[in-house]
Amino acid sequence: MNLTHRTPGHITSEPPWANTQSMLEKEVRQRQIFPGLSVRAYESIESTNDICTAMAQQGSRGPLVVMANHQSAGRGRQGNHWESPAGCNLLLSLLLEIPNGGHDLLSLAVSLATAEAIERTAPTLPVECRVKWPNDILLSGCKVAGILIEKPASNVAGVAVIGIGVNVNQQSFPPELAHDAVSLATVCGGAVSRLTLATELLVALQQWLSPSLVKDTIIAQWKARCDMLGRRVSLESAGSTIHGMVEDIDPFNGLVVREDNGVLRMCHAALSRMVRCEPAT
Ligand code: BTN
Repeated sequence: MNLTHRTPGHITSEPPWANTQSMLEKEVRQRQIFPGLSVRAYESIESTNDICTAMAQQGSRGPLVVMANHQSAGRGRQGNHWESPAGCNLLLSLLLEIPNGGHDLLSLAVSLATAEAIERTAPTLPVECRVKWPNDILLSGCKVAGILIEKPASNVAGVAVIGIGVNVNQQSFPPELAHDAVSLATVCGGAVSRLTLATELLVALQQWLSPSLVKDTIIAQWKARCDMLGRRVSLESAGSTIHGMVEDIDPFNGLVVREDNGVLRMCHAALSRMVRCEPAT
């Protein structure tokens, strides 16, 4: 595949997939992204997260980035499948050493990096990227990217697998997703280079995961991109159903929801599923 497209004032092109690994290796070296980063790009594999997990279990501590043109068993949060037609979307995982890597702050930082990378790659985007707790990336209220962060196993301490799927050049979605999902190409009106997006994503991840970054900066920036504060939500969390208003987001305790009976509930991302988030009034 060799896409060359013109969008207003902006040309994007994508090299053949077979060249992706060598071209991304060149970019990361030239731009000094994650020093020592290994790059692997597969034509088709089960899941990029699974490759990173297997590498961690064999002793690798990264940094390693794995991309695929197609996944036969892509995974989403909470046991969902992540379906993506071959050859059009970004399917990327990063294996990285992250001290204390499990808490929600990592998830917020990855969401911010993804939103920023999308905006840098597609400057003709007519709308800002927004974030939805715990880590969906939205354009005009529709999901453009999802994030699945996993810890390989209890015996592999201090590393995380950060899996990111971005709908890049997908032209249409199955009927059950058609109202909730969107791709960069359909919003921008032209194809977007996955290589450019992958490069920008790694640049942004390096910035947002920097140990020197102040925790409060991540929280403030995440809140600035989030439309959920003050909105009415319904969640299933730790075995119960919760209805109330989103009062805050806490990087360690998750979504802070004031229930209708006045009780304040902390909804951890790993234990919660958003059932409904009502539009802002
Ligand atoms: C979600 O929104 O449910 C998270 C989706 C994460 C999908 C990405 S695609 C690359 C990586 N490999 C996977 O199997 N999943 C993640």
